[in-house]
Amino acid sequence: MYSEEDIEEVRSRSDIVDVISTYVQLKRKGSNYFGLCPFHSEKSPSFSVSPGKQMYFCFGCHKGGNVITFLMDYGQYSFPEAVEMLADKCGYKLPKQQMTQEQKERQTKRTKLSYIYKDAANYYYSALYSGNGAPGRDYFQGDRGLDKDTMRKFALGYADGNWSSLYNHLRSKGYEDDIMKDAGLVVFDEKKGPRDYFINRVMFPIVDERGKPVGLGGRVLDDSKPKYLNSRENDLFIKRRTFYGYHIARSTRREMFILCEGYMDVIALHKAGFDNAIAALGTAFTSEHAAKLKKVGKKVYICFDSDLPGIDATLRAIGMLRLLEVDCKVITMGEYKDPDEFIKAKGSEAFEERIKNAENSFIFAIDMRRRDYDNNDPEENNRFFRNMAGRIATLPTDIERENYIVVLSQRYGVSADSLRELVRDVSKNDKELKAIKEEMYHGRDNVIGEDSDMSDKSDTFGGSPRDARPTSRSSTKAKGDEGLKETEGIILTWLLEEPSLYNSIAKYLSPLDFHEGLYRDIATDMLDAYSTSGTFDPASIMCKFEDNEAHQTIANMLYTKIEGVKSDKERETLLKETLIKLKNEGLSNIDQSAPGAGGRIRQIRQDIIKLQTEPILI
Ligand code: CTP
Ligand code: MN
Repeated sequence: MYSEEDIEEVRSRSDIVDVISTYVQLKRKGSNYFGLCPFHSEKSPSFSVSPGKQMYFCFGCHKGGNVITFLMDYGQYSFPEAVEMLADKCGYKLPKQQMTQEQKERQTKRTKLSYIYKDAANYYYSALYSGNGAPGRDYFQGDRGLDKDTMRKFALGYADGNWSSLYNHLRSKGYEDDIMKDAGLVVFDEKKGPRDYFINRVMFPIVDERGKPVGLGGRVLDDSKPKYLNSRENDLFIKRRTFYGYHIARSTRREMFILCEGYMDVIALHKAGFDNAIAALGTAFTSEHAAKLKKVGKKVYICFDSDLPGIDATLRAIGMLRLLEVDCKVITMGEYKDPDEFIKAKGSEAFEERIKNAENSFIFAIDMRRRDYDNNDPEENNRFFRNMAGRIATLPTDIERENYIVVLSQRYGVSADSLRELVRDVSKNDKELKAIKEEMYHGRDNVIGEDSDMSDKSDTFGGSPRDARPTSRSSTKAKGDEGLKETEGIILTWLLEEPSLYNSIAKYLSPLDFHEGLYRDIATDMLDAYSTSGTFDPASIMCKFEDNEAHQTIANMLYTKIEGVKSDKERETLLKETLIKLKNEGLSNIDQSAPGAGGRIRQIRQDIIKLQTEPILI
């Protein structure tokens, strides 16, 4: 990791307008630049880039940050990569990265692993076209109907039936036993000695985003078990965040990914022209997979196998993707087992049609859940509708809830009014709602004791707990919190836009007036910077926080909308009002029993009185 000074040097030498305008067309408007947001689709520009703040912010999707975070979000760079790319651009020489001994060893290990996978993949690739490779070629070209181009595109290979073909090859290239073992390519048996891990299998190299091999998968040529083997997980190969086909799919022009289950599904789809197909390795799609897709910002069309495990996996994937607010749909294939089979039987036009008719994932999940309840038992029907209502209750806005109430009430033959009423009722039952959320986002396996929840529910029907309205109370609190943060944002944005204001209001302001955490940290930095140097560079602060959410919060906070103010008098009044609001809110948040609370309360009260009586703008 580079030093803070180096990062800051690179950042301040790079102009954000310069950098972003190579990706987004920007037009000047006042002191800012505007363009169509690259992070969400829109028709009129709400993406703003401020040369003054050296930050960007989208008033539509609220994504924001500095020049480095832009490259990370848009260009898919890691933090150090973004810094290096900017340093390159502005001609700043970064010091060679200082690594600890341990980091160095890991780095060497990763490099060795990446070489060995490359050599192994090359070896299997050549073997497929050698004299011994006939069974592999027959399998791919005969049984699976692939053409040579597709086989090359995925660098498919073949491991023959000898016990040490790869081992001998790797030895001849100078690899040590240890690295072969760590790579999971050779197994060392005490009695039998070294044995290739992949024997009699067709081979699928697994590559990273840039197309570099990080592992291998191998499939048997017949029906024997295990059908697939994968090389070992290690520093280079981390299954829970690796996709097959991603290096090609990430730069496709299509607006969505097609997420399927297997190697052969991906290959068949790419062959049919759907170069946006990817698969999680093995059947398990994880939250890290979901997070990776979220970062790219494309939609995800799930097209898992049609069998029961496939449907279960679909429901889990929907939950994980929706939790991250990734737009997702479901492609179903009716009687066909998987996309590979579908394409073979019906062709690519039929699949294109399936994409067009992809199902709404929220409704799909409810339709599938329906199967778990006995349609002939009114009690079971009640449960099903409560489950549906709970799902609707989790939707963030009135409009969304209402839209689904209308569609689902028709779909399931109940009146919209009664469904609406049920949504209201389930919303009041925290425990029930929590269980439904758990089921939605983490799958059914995690839902324990649905029955005991039912007894809770009958309590609710009985009356008293119904009036407690725990959900509505907590949601008001959340809203209030947002309001507070808005006031804090206004003050910070104002100070940022008019640094001269600092001298007028410094004496009324303390970092303690701000929410603990990010807000207070930023306020501390800003007030500190103004008092020592008279200037504050908001974009610099981003680099102190690693996670994306923090960048967005900071950008939101520093781009709070300030009402258009005309005269000085109006300005003074608005500023006073905002400061008083900030102070009052701070007052109501003080924990009376905390040490020093008394003094702090007195101080705030004095500040408020001063603000009410003294002129503040000097
Ligand atoms: N898989 C695995 N290990 C297994 C079985 C499956 O890693 N023992 C992974 C593979 O990535 C495979 C995917 O799960 O591609 C889907 O498995 P499955 O549906 O069983 O196979 P298909 O894709 O139908 O395989 P094929 O078409 O080659 O029979
Ligand atoms: Mn298959």
